[in-house]
Amino acid sequence: MNAIGKISASDRYERCVQTSKRVRWDIEKDVIRGRRFDASTKFLPDGLYLADAFASLSHDEKRFVSQIQGRTYANVFGLVERFINAKVLELSHDHWFGDQVALEALVRFSDEELKHQALFRRIDAMIGDVLPEGYRFDVDPNGVAHAVLGKSTWAVLALTLDIELFTQLHYRQSIDPDTELSELFKDVFLYHWREESQHAIIDELEWVRHDAGLTTEERDRAVDEFIELVAAVDGILQSQAKADAGYFAATCGRAVEKAEARAIEAAFLKAYRWQYIHSGAQHPQFGKVLSSLITQRQGQRIQAALATLH
Ligand SMILES: [Fe+2]
Ligand SMILES: [Fe+2]
Repeated sequence: MNAIGKISASDRYERCVQTSKRVRWDIEKDVIRGRRFDASTKFLPDGLYLADAFASLSHDEKRFVSQIQGRTYANVFGLVERFINAKVLELSHDHWFGDQVALEALVRFSDEELKHQALFRRIDAMIGDVLPEGYRFDVDPNGVAHAVLGKSTWAVLALTLDIELFTQLHYRQSIDPDTELSELFKDVFLYHWREESQHAIIDELEWVRHDAGLTTEERDRAVDEFIELVAAVDGILQSQAKADAGYFAATCGRAVEKAEARAIEAAFLKAYRWQYIHSGAQHPQFGKVLSSLITQRQGQRIQAALATLH
């Protein structure tokens, strides 16, 4: 057992509370600091928006794609944080008359997700100020939250841990090291990452705690529900890829023929599946926690479902 493995669950909640207090930030004072977005810079790095998949586009057009995807990236986080926060508030009931430090960790988690949603609404509006009119993100956060929360807690926590781990991976591996990115966009995800690091630890603690109370049959059903949730995420990605490719074609300043338009839409979908499904599914910590809770056959069912999303 390594040093981390020896830390008790209550110590881990305690550390999350301490770190949450230490890194806490304010949207205007710390993140925005009176700045505006600059349309001459990229918002997402090449490895995240999949620059190479947009083979027919010029350098400047690719930068525009990175800005469209950056705006969608902010909106997708605002979207998922609606159901994540509702689930965290629901789980906090289990700690009301128990470990008060765990309760505080969940309350801070919830408070942070409310702030993050406000940040991402602000970012969407600020990007709207510097990009052409016509961008659409028509997914209703409450509608998605109702559908997601209709699934079992186990399935929702699996999806949540996946999301909160890939947020960190994207920041550390590609957003932070890219020197050509918008400084403001980078800061949004630097500050977001600082608070998300605690969320992923809490997701894992809550998932493992909740899992211990399930029967074999309940867990097996939950595995199917997790697969259904991933398929629902893919449905959202397909419609947003269509919307964003249409917006690009309508505002890029030149005619885009049908065949190229189809290729651009396919590239958007490929990028979104990478960002929101495969990069998280391949995250080592996600794989480690998931495989500690499920059987090999259940793992194969999940892998087979993921393999259809290419
Ligand atoms: Fe967040
Ligand atoms: Fe979070």
